[in-house]
Amino acid sequence: MKPKILIVDDENLLRWSASQKCEEWGYEAAAAASLAEAREKIKADPPDLILLDVRLPDGNGVDFLGELRRDVFAGPVVLVTADPQIEDVKLALRQGAYDYLCKPVNFDDLQVTLANALETSRLRSEVAALRDEASGSRERLEFIGQSTATRQVLDFARRVARSEASAILLQGESGTGKDLLARYIHQQSSRSRQPFVPVNCSAIPETLLEAELFGHEKGAFTDAKAMKKGLFEVADHGTLFLDEIGELPLPLQAKILRALEDQTLRRIGGLRDLRVDLRVIAASNRNLEDEVKAGRFRADLFYRLMVIPIFIPPLRSRREDIPELAAFFIEQFSRRFGKRIRGLTPEAAEMMRRYDWPGNIRELKNAIQRAVILEDGAEIRGLNLPFSPDSGQTLAAAFPTSDEPAELASWRKLPDGRFLPILHIPTGGTSLDEVEKLLVADALQQSGGNQSRAARLLDTTRDTIRYAVKKHRLASSTITD
Ligand SMILES: Nc1ncnc2c1ncn2[C@@H]1O[C@H](COP(=O)(O)OP(=O)(O)OP(=O)(O)O)[C@@H](O)[C@H]1O
Ligand SMILES: [Mg+2]
Repeated sequence: MKPKILIVDDENLLRWSASQKCEEWGYEAAAAASLAEAREKIKADPPDLILLDVRLPDGNGVDFLGELRRDVFAGPVVLVTADPQIEDVKLALRQGAYDYLCKPVNFDDLQVTLANALETSRLRSEVAALRDEASGSRERLEFIGQSTATRQVLDFARRVARSEASAILLQGESGTGKDLLARYIHQQSSRSRQPFVPVNCSAIPETLLEAELFGHEKGAFTDAKAMKKGLFEVADHGTLFLDEIGELPLPLQAKILRALEDQTLRRIGGLRDLRVDLRVIAASNRNLEDEVKAGRFRADLFYRLMVIPIFIPPLRSRREDIPELAAFFIEQFSRRFGKRIRGLTPEAAEMMRRYDWPGNIRELKNAIQRAVILEDGAEIRGLNLPFSPDSGQTLAAAFPTSDEPAELASWRKLPDGRFLPILHIPTGGTSLDEVEKLLVADALQQSGGNQSRAARLLDTTRDTIRYAVKKHRLASSTITD
């Protein structure tokens, strides 16, 4: 990770010699001959430090410094000036310039100044990161589970995280924790202070995907009004998480392979390759080997990713994790919903252990959330688990046949005498719109058509109710304000 230095000066010789020197000292150098050019370069590829001439053809470096500070650039700026006017220098330092040098530039001085400025800025961002961590603003990731299988996955993931591995493949059924593990690997790696960029390959339309991933130059196509960095570039030095990689179209798979192999990429319409330092974590809940056999996934990319495969086993094959996961989520949701639930009744715990969990941890988490909401005792009882035969009976009672109009709610009486609706999704599914319509209609009925009161019942605004009435064409005859 070489620090990048942008040299802004209209003197060709100085630009050239300073660039040479910077590279000699182990930096990456870029140069701009005017403020306009500097603006563009800073936007396209932010440097770590700017060496800024005061007198430039299209403006004054000191003014530009103010502009930089208001805008985006927070790194150190070192001014270079031919005739140091004390007022200029004072103003510049007050505007946050790190230091200034006089022309003709003494390269020994320059070397020391650059090194100090970069070190100061590195320390500053390190302190900021530590402060973040201490104040807990960085989320703590907890990957719960003490079963041998889970411990093996985590140990391996930790070792991989700290290695130089540039590609990792996570496989496992839906809901097994691939997303969580990808974040965990990033957090455990030396890249943790750099960006973690998740991309859901199946959520971005195919026509946009290439530009999203690789970016484009200005004018690369009709809509490309400005240069745009792709996510690969945004994730430089960090981790790019390609979720659902099995959904990627074949031509893009080829480009990704190239980015991985050469650690370079080219923006759409770009003429040169950009170096990137990337770790790609790919995930799929499809069996990629089958996808390769079916010709939907490139074998070469598959083998590149398979250098480090991590398989997260389904929950049913590591049932020892169930009690700990349940306890973890009970704690979490009790706190969130202001309940005091201590755990599961022995009967409910046994049901949890026996159940097959086709939706894995996600299903368990949802089941606990629902049960915490429904439970009014101190322990979750079996009948509040969605897969319990008792719960199934309410479901079956609510939907005797699929031809019946879907009644979406059954009701549970709360200790204070109020009723809480328990929503069930009918076997064939329903739409959120339909649920909204029913609830709004119900609220209006209860409020005798009074929209304000209906809004209060649903803890929303009258405008929302009014909009819903219009959208769902609810009978307006009974509605008052
Ligand atoms: N071991 C675990 N400890 C705590 N929470 C977990 C664990 N595994 C999964 N979860 C939680 O379960 C939910 C589902 O996990 P995640 O989204 O990572 O699954 P996934 O494998 O990416 O699923 P999909 O293939 O459907 O995208 C998330 O809320 C996640 O935080
Ligand atoms: Mg996922």
